[in-house]
Amino acid sequence: MLSRKMAKSRSFLIGILVLSCWTAIANAERMIYKDPKIPINHRIKDLMNRMTLEEKIGQMTQIDRSVASTEVMKKYYIGSVLSGGGSVPAPQASAETWVDMVNDFQKGSLSTRLGIPMIYGIDAVHGNNNVYNATIFPHNIGLGATRDPVLVKKIGAATALEVRATGITYAFAPCIAVCRDPRWGRCYESYSEDPAIVQAMTELVPGLQGDLPANFRKGVPYVGGKEKVLACAKHFVGDGGTTKGINENNTVTNWHGLLNIHMPAYYDTIIKGVSTVMVSYSSWNGVKMHANRELVTGFLKNKLRFRGFVISDWQGLDRITSPPHANYTYSILEGVDAGIDMLMIPYNYTEFIDGLTFLVKNNFIPMSRIDDAVKRILRVKFMMGLFENPLADYSMTKYLGSQEHRELAREAVRRTLVLLKNGGSSDKALIPLSKKSPKILVAGTHADNIGNQCGGWTIQWQGQTGNITVPRFLRP
Ligand SMILES: *[C@@H]1O[C@H](CO)[C@@H](O)[C@H](O)[C@H]1NC(C)=O
Ligand SMILES: *[C@@H]1O[C@H](CO)[C@@H](O)[C@H](O)[C@H]1NC(C)=O
Ligand SMILES: *[C@@H]1O[C@H](CO)[C@@H](O)[C@H](O)[C@H]1NC(C)=O
Ligand SMILES: *[C@@H]1O[C@H](CO)[C@@H](O)[C@H](O)[C@H]1NC(C)=O
Ligand SMILES: *[C@@H]1O[C@H](CO)[C@@H](O)[C@H](O)[C@H]1NC(C)=O
Repeated sequence: MLSRKMAKSRSFLIGILVLSCWTAIANAERMIYKDPKIPINHRIKDLMNRMTLEEKIGQMTQIDRSVASTEVMKKYYIGSVLSGGGSVPAPQASAETWVDMVNDFQKGSLSTRLGIPMIYGIDAVHGNNNVYNATIFPHNIGLGATRDPVLVKKIGAATALEVRATGITYAFAPCIAVCRDPRWGRCYESYSEDPAIVQAMTELVPGLQGDLPANFRKGVPYVGGKEKVLACAKHFVGDGGTTKGINENNTVTNWHGLLNIHMPAYYDTIIKGVSTVMVSYSSWNGVKMHANRELVTGFLKNKLRFRGFVISDWQGLDRITSPPHANYTYSILEGVDAGIDMLMIPYNYTEFIDGLTFLVKNNFIPMSRIDDAVKRILRVKFMMGLFENPLADYSMTKYLGSQEHRELAREAVRRTLVLLKNGGSSDKALIPLSKKSPKILVAGTHADNIGNQCGGWTIQWQGQTGNITVPRFLRP
């Protein structure tokens, strides 16, 4: 009786033991973060608990494709790759070549211990403009002149498809600069000098990322599936307000001026679920935006409750000091401490990784700051479905330069045309032209030059003259 009872409880004990062993094994093997059915916040927490400092700093690092490789992605746990202006896998590369390149880098990321996929970003600011044969849309200055946010949203949706056509998931657009001085060389990237027009044109964001589902929480990043891409509101903040329009210079204005002119469009993009915000090279009242904790962390993250990630501009860290890169460790400290989450390095990534590692290990930068950055980056990666669909296929290459997109671009060009003067006087108006005119003279150096007509950010960063991309048709 006794022994039978003992035997029974023993087998009960063994049962418990087996069960708990099994649970332990199941927990170890059950990668919660890999399960798309688990809420994103739990996935983030699970993944972050598994990550080393090295892996976290890797997530914060964005490098240019020219220094990226499958091995580099793997060895340094690189979180993101970009194409700088004109940085392409080969001259006139096809969409398939782009997809192959992006996938090669991605395979490096996927082969790491935790297999966190990378994000590939590109300056798709008027179409996927670095890419040969992509549809080139008018620049923002022209789109602002159309006063038509619906058109701008359609351009966003077309651009998203052409970006995805090349295997890319992230567009550094829209530029929501409010250009207050036409001498600024980048004024053409601004929709308007009028903040209200710039606000209206933030419809590019739902065009690129998709429409927010009903009742979606405001300020939380959103990307609606495989035909959409991450957007980026830039350049935070005051890039269009610099003294005399000097590029990357100092925007001198009080808090009221900043909030009323340069800030409003950020409210709109955040409400529309913009996933990322890029910091401006410029300064506000003498303080570099890349080192401005008050505005990046205090205002954008805490006050506006932006939940996506903040990215630096190209070598933006270097330019915190004058001359650039004079004290890089100091720049890393200032930039990361200000609240920048992902750093566009773009070349010497070991210098950044070593510098940031040093600063964290020696308590110059608290672990909480690193965790905030990584949490934001992972949130975006989970939210956009990157863990479920990290690799691109060729199914979307057909969108690159599609006939439908070219028609949309032609429509946009018609709508951007601005008539400055109509003939000699109001009673001698030139337009409308007589339908009977047999010939029309179009003159000037840009009249038959597709490169000049497309402007900057076309194939090359500064654009290029001549037949640099494929015209819509070679005349019937
Ligand atoms: C603004 O430009 C002036 C003239 O080039 C230069 O001396 C100054 O350092 C610049 N300021 C900033 C903040 O870039
Ligand atoms: C770099 O900046 C740090 C922090 O301000 C300072 O302690 C250090 O002396 C600087 N190094 C150089 C070479 O200027
Ligand atoms: C990267 O930076 C480190 C540290 O400043 C330097 O020693 C190295 O030469 C740099 N590498 C390149 C490729 O510029
Ligand atoms: C450009 O794209 C269009 C539409 O996808 C395609 O029909 C055409 O062959 C492409 N041209 C070149 C030169 O790649
Ligand atoms: C571009 O190509 C077209 C068609 O071949 C030609 O008529 C035109 O002169 C070329 N333009 C330039 C600037 O080379």
